[in-house]
Amino acid sequence: MLLTIMLMIGLAFASCTKEGPAGLPGADGKDGKDGEDGINGLDGTATCAVCHDDSEVNFAITRHWEMSQHAMGNTYLRNSTSCAGCHTSQGFREIILTGEGNTEMAISNPNPPNCYTCHNVHQDYTIDDWGLSHVAPVALRISGDVIDLGKGNLCATCHQPRQPSPMPEVGGADIAIGNFRYGPHYGTQAVIAAGTGGYEVGDGYTNSAHVNMIGNSCVTCHMVENSGENAGGHMMNLSYGEGSVLTTSCTSCHTNPETLQTLMTDVKEDLATLLAELNAKLKEVGIMDEANYAVEGTWTADQAGALINHNLVKYDHSNGVHNYPYAKKLLENSIAALQ
Ligand code: HEC
Ligand code: HEC
Ligand code: HEC
Ligand code: HEC
Ligand code: HEC
Ligand code: HEC
Repeated sequence: MLLTIMLMIGLAFASCTKEGPAGLPGADGKDGKDGEDGINGLDGTATCAVCHDDSEVNFAITRHWEMSQHAMGNTYLRNSTSCAGCHTSQGFREIILTGEGNTEMAISNPNPPNCYTCHNVHQDYTIDDWGLSHVAPVALRISGDVIDLGKGNLCATCHQPRQPSPMPEVGGADIAIGNFRYGPHYGTQAVIAAGTGGYEVGDGYTNSAHVNMIGNSCVTCHMVENSGENAGGHMMNLSYGEGSVLTTSCTSCHTNPETLQTLMTDVKEDLATLLAELNAKLKEVGIMDEANYAVEGTWTADQAGALINHNLVKYDHSNGVHNYPYAKKLLENSIAALQ
């Protein structure tokens, strides 16, 4: 009770105490020490702008690519394990890492060959990302021969034949063909352009001067400065329209355009004649049917090899420009072997 009263008296006194007016402000304190300069952060977009600038280079290249067979073709839908490595972008990126011929699984949402297939786009996010995804020498699927076409190895990884199963050996045993699709598949260019991997029956095989004289092979001829919207550059084709061929890459060596034209016509006609002759022989022997498919059954190594050589030259599509001497010899010796 006494304590309570004393507390109440204390509170009453305290609430009566009044504060005086505030005093004058004191003098300013001394300035503090300056902070040290920090290290500047990276400009978030500087490395991007080496490619994503306003030069329109990407745009031009993208347009050319859009007009290419790589972009316009529909074979990227061949996404199963044995096809996706060459026909889809994701499959290609997988097999160049694993070194296998097939992908592990079918590729979902398949893309056709595009910027990400051939370049390291968005790996380091620097200009180095224009580097090519794959330039190591290529072990040909059909023969195991290792070829080195420099930057052309990128193209050769896909533009090479598949190995027919079973593969005949020169002088070897008969083989059994169990499927009408038997053969080296399409896109046989690497074998012809490198001059190795055919069924080399007989002798006399030689290569065109092109094989050793043209560094980077495919890339040098096919990616020459594009001609409008017809060919070259990232369109990558060289023939266009009704039999026109872009020859910008040829003229440094073949200085006379008329002589070059004659040379091209001559080798084209010669190979077409030999191909027709071999085609007729294969049908006569019975290993090829009227629709140019293989006929199931047991055949000699030379008969199967002749069919393979026929398709290697047929699907090279260069009319003798890639390697005329080699293509010619494959056809001539195949015809001789079927006599
Ligand atoms: C080596 C050149 C290069 C560099 C460096 C680069 N890019 Fe790209 N970028 C490309 C190419 C090529 C494409 C795909 C083609 C297209 O769509 O134009 C692309 C596409 C893109 C796209 C469209 C979406 C896509 O994935 O297709 C975006 C967004 C993008 N880049 C952002 C960036 C950013 C952000 C950086 C920097 C951190 C960067 N890029 C650095 C070349 C580059
Ligand atoms: C990832 C595999 C792949 C790579 C790498 C590749 N190509 Fe192709 N290329 C193809 C496929 C598949 C086609 C057929 C596309 C279609 O019709 O759907 C094709 C088509 C072409 C065509 C058109 C053929 C025609 O008959 O019209 C040319 C030309 C060509 N490629 C050149 C090249 C060159 C040159 C390179 C290297 C710089 C290259 N390719 C790299 C897979 C590839
Ligand atoms: C070693 C690489 C490779 C493999 C594996 C491969 N292809 Fe191809 N294929 C090509 C290339 C390259 C072309 C384009 C050739 C050209 O245009 O000269 C092509 C062309 C084609 C074409 C178009 C033919 C035409 O009439 O022009 C079809 C269809 C095709 N391939 C189906 C398949 C199928 C199905 C598989 C799997 C069973 C397969 N390919 C596996 C490389 C390959
Ligand atoms: C089939 C393969 C292929 C495809 C698809 C492809 N490129 Fe290329 N690209 C090449 C090759 C090969 C070169 C020549 C490289 C050399 O000579 O060093 C090249 C060169 C370039 C260059 C010049 C690089 C440099 O070093 O200055 C640019 C830029 C470029 N490509 C952009 C693109 C873009 C953008 C796309 C997609 C629209 C694309 N490429 C698609 C194969 C390809
Ligand atoms: C000496 C230059 C040269 C070299 C090297 C070369 N090509 Fe060709 N290629 C040509 C010419 C020219 C044609 C067209 C011939 C014609 O239509 O009469 C052609 C045709 C083709 C075709 C048919 C579509 C088209 O463009 O007409 C493909 C696909 C092809 N070459 C791919 C390749 C590949 C892949 C390589 C490397 C393994 C290669 N080429 C090496 C000059 C070359
Ligand atoms: C680096 C030099 C060089 C380039 C580039 C070149 N050639 Fe040749 N070409 C030669 C030589 C050397 C020969 C053999 C001598 C001759 O017959 O003129 C030859 C031969 C030929 C032949 C005869 C068949 C053969 O291979 O022996 C044809 C056809 C041909 N070239 C077409 C072309 C075409 C088309 C191009 C461009 C797409 C081209 N060449 C680019 C050097 C070259």
